[in-house]
Amino acid sequence: MIRDKGCGEVKETDIGSVMSLSGWVFRRRDHGGLIFIDLRDRSGLCQVVFSPDVSRESHEEAHDLRAEYVISVSGEMRKRPEGTENPNIPTGNVEMYVKKLEVLNESSPLPYSMEEAADAGEALRFKHRYLDLRRPEMQRNLIMRHGISKVMRDYLDEKGFLEIETPMLTKSTPEGARDYLVPSRLNPGHFYALPQSPQLFKQILMVSGLEKYFQIVKCFRDEDLRADRQPEFTQVDLEISFADREDILQLIEGMMKTLFKNMLDTDIETPFHRLTFHESMERFGNDKPDLRFGLELKDMADLAWKGTFKVFLDALQNRGIVKAINGKGMASLSRKEIDMLTSEAQSFGAKGLAWIKVKSASGGFESPIAKFFPEEILRKMAERLEAEDGDLMLFVADKPKVTYDVLSRMRLSLGERLNLIKPGFKFTWITDFPLLEWDEEESRFQAMHHPFTSPMNEDAEKMLTGDINDKEMLSSLRAKAYDIVLNGYEIGGGSIRIHRQAVQKKMFEILDISDEDARVKFGFLLDALQYGAPPHGGIALGLDRLVMIMVGAASIRDVIAFPKTQKAVCLMSGAPSVVEPKQLKELHIKTDVQLDFKT
Ligand code: AMO
Ligand code: AMP
Repeated sequence: MIRDKGCGEVKETDIGSVMSLSGWVFRRRDHGGLIFIDLRDRSGLCQVVFSPDVSRESHEEAHDLRAEYVISVSGEMRKRPEGTENPNIPTGNVEMYVKKLEVLNESSPLPYSMEEAADAGEALRFKHRYLDLRRPEMQRNLIMRHGISKVMRDYLDEKGFLEIETPMLTKSTPEGARDYLVPSRLNPGHFYALPQSPQLFKQILMVSGLEKYFQIVKCFRDEDLRADRQPEFTQVDLEISFADREDILQLIEGMMKTLFKNMLDTDIETPFHRLTFHESMERFGNDKPDLRFGLELKDMADLAWKGTFKVFLDALQNRGIVKAINGKGMASLSRKEIDMLTSEAQSFGAKGLAWIKVKSASGGFESPIAKFFPEEILRKMAERLEAEDGDLMLFVADKPKVTYDVLSRMRLSLGERLNLIKPGFKFTWITDFPLLEWDEEESRFQAMHHPFTSPMNEDAEKMLTGDINDKEMLSSLRAKAYDIVLNGYEIGGGSIRIHRQAVQKKMFEILDISDEDARVKFGFLLDALQYGAPPHGGIALGLDRLVMIMVGAASIRDVIAFPKTQKAVCLMSGAPSVVEPKQLKELHIKTDVQLDFKT
């Protein structure tokens, strides 16, 4: 027998028995007379001791053991002598005295030591991902990920959902990112798209009467990558027939409650907090607010009008806004430090950052712009921001998009700097999204979620009967769309879909998608919708992000076994890579890039 139990499973009740353990040599301490090894397998660590008194031969052989050798040892389990226990590990009271050692495999010298692996840098870690994944921390992440998927799968199974697979080689889907394309050898010049989501197929499954679908599924999006974005990522995707928004929200709240209880023994309060899109923008500057701290944005337009500060007035006159946040206790910052804060705001896109220190002791307000406002207005500003003696009021005046974007990022940055972010999990739904979003560049409307998202009941008639050139009316339409946000991350999004053809047709008209275009792009869904589509809707959770937050990782790359870099490269396998000219020829593909086929 190679092993009787896992290294981390050894208990005090094993003391006195003779057993076998197997694993990797993690740490090795040679104390002359005795050699100590921390033996590691997936279950944890156990200290094993080589003593010449127990086995001269094994003790001799143990001199040659190196980091990450794979060994099997057998011997007697003993209680550790008093004072040598290790309270940091569950097996810290016991150790094995080795009678017999077998080296199952050797290891080449490591590119970095396992103990310093966390600091080895992603380039090295990703290149040798097999070693990186041996680290207890990474194993814990993957074990948690498995558990999280399982709880969600079981929950949905219990609620009557069917897990149904949808194609990976498919047509472009309307999620708005660039597609990954796969050339078809049998159909020269034709391409499959890898799915950005199973959106169209899950709607078709509803037309087919499957009623409750889910899938834990890979999705592919060729977009700019960040700490919470990978080119291939996993969704917990679902769709339900005969359901309205409340059914979906309740289902997901129940799922989160079960998930956090089972995996983290944490009670999540339901129903979740809800914010409309509009309110979220007004108060936090974005649609994925971190509600673990305050520092809310306040509107200052009415007060700014009452002063003579040109920057504010110019912004307001040009359909801009003036908003502010309260830098709690930051009035002690020096000019230089405030300049750094201003540079930070500028790096987020602001033209500048106006500031006013509240210094009640020395007579009120200290700021280069204080002179532009009557004392009473300054006091009202402070009141609105709940700014007290020692606080620093920070203002941005600009177009709404810039102002929101800058202040929401300043809010997060200050929240971290001032240590305001409380531990824990704060969920919120964002609801009442606008149906449409004006695209300045292309000078036309885009669907904010996707073109199959239903307008609110109250807005559907307005949309059906309204003029498609009435920009104001179109901007006011709200969607039956919702996002779920956890600690400042969008962990999921969905909507109730359009199931009436007239509404769908009008939607395409507004989006300036011609009948012909619609046919080419999603004709199969439009066909299906003609044949008795039930009302339906759904949601997709970003599994990687959810796991990242639950395990407390800083990047989704730490909860994905084989992630890609910022440039979408897998450093371990070397993908993407050049292919043989013969393969390209078969696919009828010519490239204008000079390729070196040997590398
Ligand atoms: P959406 O596009 O909002 O909705 O995607 C759902 C969730 O997937 C996660 N996500 C990502 N995670 C990591 N890397 C990425 N590149 C990435 N892109 C998205 C996010 C997001 O909230 N078909 C619709 C769902 C529906 O309407 O039912 C959809 O895909 O957490
Ligand atoms: P100026 O009059 O350009 O020297 O700016 C005076 C103060 O206003 C400085 O603190 C600038 O950082 C700040 N400021 C400039 N533009 C803006 C803006 N768009 N919003 C907020 N503050 C600004």
